[in-house]
Amino acid sequence: MSGRDDVVAQAEEVLRANDRGGYTVPTAGLYPFQWNWDSCLTALGQSHFDEERAWREVETLFAHQWEDGMVPHIVFHEPSDGYFPGPEVWGTGRPTPTSGITQPPVAGFVVRRLFERARDRGLAEAKARALLGKVDAWHAWFYRHRDPRGEGLVALLHPWESGRDNSVDWDEPLARVPTEGVEPYTRRDTQHADPAHRPTKEQYDRYLWLLQRFRSLGWDATRLHDASPFQVVDPGFNAVLIRSCADLADLAEALGETGVAEANRARASAGLAALEGLWSEAHGQYLCRDRVSGELVVSSSVGGLLPVFAAVPRERAARIARTIERWGERVTYLVPSHDPDDPRYEPQRYWRGPVWLVVNYMIADGLARAGEREVAERVVSSSLALVARSGFAEYYDPVTAAPCGGRRFSWTAAMALELLAAQRGGALTPA
Ligand code: DGY
Repeated sequence: MSGRDDVVAQAEEVLRANDRGGYTVPTAGLYPFQWNWDSCLTALGQSHFDEERAWREVETLFAHQWEDGMVPHIVFHEPSDGYFPGPEVWGTGRPTPTSGITQPPVAGFVVRRLFERARDRGLAEAKARALLGKVDAWHAWFYRHRDPRGEGLVALLHPWESGRDNSVDWDEPLARVPTEGVEPYTRRDTQHADPAHRPTKEQYDRYLWLLQRFRSLGWDATRLHDASPFQVVDPGFNAVLIRSCADLADLAEALGETGVAEANRARASAGLAALEGLWSEAHGQYLCRDRVSGELVVSSSVGGLLPVFAAVPRERAARIARTIERWGERVTYLVPSHDPDDPRYEPQRYWRGPVWLVVNYMIADGLARAGEREVAERVVSSSLALVARSGFAEYYDPVTAAPCGGRRFSWTAAMALELLAAQRGGALTPA
């Protein structure tokens, strides 16, 4: 793609082609349903050419929120045998089948951003008002069921919840998950994407073991946390939740909903205080805590840089910027999803090294807000250079720019639209 107009036209074309009506698939083939954080971030891209459609993307997701407040990570709107594990494996018994776990809660951040930039103010106010209580209920669900001892930070019970499925972060805690008793299965992902870009069979066995365990407990959120051998407090996931709580609080204030504002403000400040316990001076970033062993996990992944997306102290943001610069000496394109100096780094294997534009977008936003403009600019220009060279790939090799995983990816197209619109408006990241 040569020029800005080309990128915009082609990004819109990808989003329209992946549109299935009220929801957008991440990409045809590999991911044929609605995914939670994909959808919300995709809505940001849609808002540049169709605001009503953008609101509908988020509304459709929340129409499948569970009664207890959880918003599932996949909604299986239409049958498709091209994906594993499908609805029959999850067995959640929902009217429209869904998975039984959740995903990074970007909705609070996204709804506020859609509201603030909306040209159609009447539509935005009606839509934001209708979504406010639903997003708040999801946030409440996290603290009720994933922070049962009130530590201020929530745990993931499955690597798929992180969105960073096969990150090095999970290697140790996942090793505790057995593989015996996993029902026979056939993977579909490796038929759509290069197996060398995807998680391993051993990881899949453990993913499936956890799924079966939770299914055997009837997907009862009051039982899953303590019954799971995998309980990991991920700084990146928590930072997304903290940012969404803070943004939802601002939105609630703008709408005169003071109760929602106060509850979310309190969650954000407790989370920010607790996040300090995950800081590693030696690594220049945050680390995960394995809640079962109580230990920090020594793994320098992009999840430990993502807290810059929340309002962490300035000195932490500055140190994260220096860590990104150090990683940048080893790669051509920022931000690799794992420290390139770590022997476990793999530049083309999913979340063990490749660059992901959605993560870049959140990191650039946070760095810019913290005054780290130069590094933020490098992250944005890397992102746009990758798109120009290799199209809207699911993720990219940080040295060669090779497109990896699926192609014609919705959220990559959406992020390109976001970053180009911001640049056009003279900003680094969108307001
Ligand atoms: C997959 O199937 O790869 C997804 O990441 C799980 O949500």
